[in-house]
Amino acid sequence: APAPSPIVTRLGFGAVNKSLADVVTVPAGYTATILYALGDPLRAATPAYKNDGTDTDFENRAGDHHDGMEWFGLSATGTPSTTATDRGLLAINHEATTDETRSSFFIHASGGTSTLPRPVDETDKEMAIHGISVVEIKKSGSTWAYVADSAFNFRIVPNTEIDIGGPLRGNALAITKYSPTGTVTRGTLNNCGTGKTPWGSFVTGEENWSGYFFRVATDNAVRGNDKSVTALNRYGRAQGAASRHGWETASADDRHLRFNISRSGVSVDGSDDYRHEMNLQGYIVEIDPYTKTKKAVKRSALGRFAHESAAFSIPVVGQPIAAYMGDDSRNEYIYKFVSTAVWSAADATPTDRLATGAKYLDQGKLFVAKFNADGSGQWIELSMTNPTVRDYTGYPFADQADICVNARLAGDAVGATKMDRPEWCSVNPKNGEVYFALTNNSNRRVDPTGGSQLVPDSANPRAYSDIRGGTSTNSGNPNGHILRLKEGTGGASATAFTWDIYVFAAETSAATGTVNLSNLTGDQDMSSPDGLAFSPTTGICWIQTDDGAYTDVTNCMMLAAIPGQVGDGAKRTLSYARSGGGTLTVDTYVGATPTADNLKRFLVGPKDCEITGIADTPDGKALFVNIQHPGEGTRMADVTDPTKYTSQWPSNAGYGAGKRPRSATIVITKNDGGVIGS
Ligand code: FEO
Ligand code: CA
Ligand code: CA
Ligand code: CA
Repeated sequence: APAPSPIVTRLGFGAVNKSLADVVTVPAGYTATILYALGDPLRAATPAYKNDGTDTDFENRAGDHHDGMEWFGLSATGTPSTTATDRGLLAINHEATTDETRSSFFIHASGGTSTLPRPVDETDKEMAIHGISVVEIKKSGSTWAYVADSAFNFRIVPNTEIDIGGPLRGNALAITKYSPTGTVTRGTLNNCGTGKTPWGSFVTGEENWSGYFFRVATDNAVRGNDKSVTALNRYGRAQGAASRHGWETASADDRHLRFNISRSGVSVDGSDDYRHEMNLQGYIVEIDPYTKTKKAVKRSALGRFAHESAAFSIPVVGQPIAAYMGDDSRNEYIYKFVSTAVWSAADATPTDRLATGAKYLDQGKLFVAKFNADGSGQWIELSMTNPTVRDYTGYPFADQADICVNARLAGDAVGATKMDRPEWCSVNPKNGEVYFALTNNSNRRVDPTGGSQLVPDSANPRAYSDIRGGTSTNSGNPNGHILRLKEGTGGASATAFTWDIYVFAAETSAATGTVNLSNLTGDQDMSSPDGLAFSPTTGICWIQTDDGAYTDVTNCMMLAAIPGQVGDGAKRTLSYARSGGGTLTVDTYVGATPTADNLKRFLVGPKDCEITGIADTPDGKALFVNIQHPGEGTRMADVTDPTKYTSQWPSNAGYGAGKRPRSATIVITKNDGGVIGS
């Protein structure tokens, strides 16, 4: 069925100014309320959060670094509801932790221990603040709160058992000491963006998981220099590189040792049981938020990379479902998965959400995107039936599981377009067009000096900045842009598309001919778009920033947008002077210039935070947003001195004990009870 008509056609609020204050600012007439912060208990038996580094039992508390988030309605009797507006579940990613030299210092009384081996009591707390929360929230009168003792509440943490679905299930690359049949694994790590399937389940993307693993420097010699070194390096890791937290050193227990994927070295029983552990992170994971007893599933057919969100095509009866995905690393790719199964209307409200997930997400084709200079593009199939993949000499693929596990290498094989860090994507409910936030890329250069530096191309055309006068062709694309694509014949299963760039993020003072190509005003200017999602109810496209380039002027922010469509703007030719003489010209396609009615700043967050996570109720009257890592710039040595915290949010807003900053979910409502953004 087509999505309901979006109900906001003009943004009716007054734009929020840029700000460096340590508060959440929303427009006049709106209220932001803190709902669920790091450490908040999820059951009655867990004590209130003291927030002084002595708390334990994080398996039953909110995790850290709240990220992507989705709403799942509950009826008054507690059954799943697509129409409920005052009671529901939030499924929330806990991406990572605020850490320095291995230690997540805010959850340890004196900052914790940086040296190896890491203490078990510290690492086990650090592990448990990763993963997922599912938490019940409820409105009483006009006030939202989370339900601390709800039977629906649960956490998924790095030790939780997870099923493997798709081509990797039972494959040699999935066999571990934990699962000799290669059918299950443990945990989900670095969950960043999210999505909601057309059948009502939650999906979460595993992003920067590779840094959690360690492989000794000499391992290739012991393994016989197999192709796993190529795979390791392609996912950003080198043999001998230290892991982010050193969890693998904490004890001889399997839950720690599994983060050491060496064949040689540490496994105390001399076995090579952990070699494949890293193959089991990096997926879109599907969760039934309503049923905590059901095992989540890694949907391996959708490929392994630094996943952000997964955005689904508008379902059409009798047609396949497409899932769109970005790989957030410099110069990585955009992907699409197309289901073998075609959509059946009865699947919109299934009795078994994960069985329906298996139907649509375990069999299908994985594609990678190539963007052309004429505004067209192709989806290129990544499978053994594509000879370019099958015969790739850079990495001999064994089978489809190997292609999925090493999707980046398959993308290399077919010459996919290297993008400026694809973050979230979302489908416009009005017309099915797919939006991708391309957050920034320091490796996009007019004059590459080697390594992974690339010249600009049409889909990633900016390699120049003039941040407050400091012009440079060597700073990459510091502000990012938002690309959108329109599928050609075949819709979800199309292999050709057209595209343009909806908006170039920029400072309003930047030159409109070279940097501020979308002519953003002071009410619209932004840097490093990251979170991006359309409300299926209001049709508003929410854009959230994770920035380092403009944060001397303003904290990270969220903007509301009502975009047009692919092709509503004009072709532009950008010219860059090359240092060795000559000019580099790049054709690109810039969307219609935003107006004051269709793009403006809605929220600015506290100090050192990223704004991320977007969910709303089906009446559009409550909007949930995450404030991730306020105070991230605090130094570990200052952990017991609140005067040195770079943020004291949310305690400075009256929420909870202690002054250590905490990631948290907020809810935004309009004081007159109206639709958000109207
Ligand atoms: Fe976790 Fe790429 O943002
Ligand atoms: Ca992100
Ligand atoms: Ca980011
Ligand atoms: Ca972040």
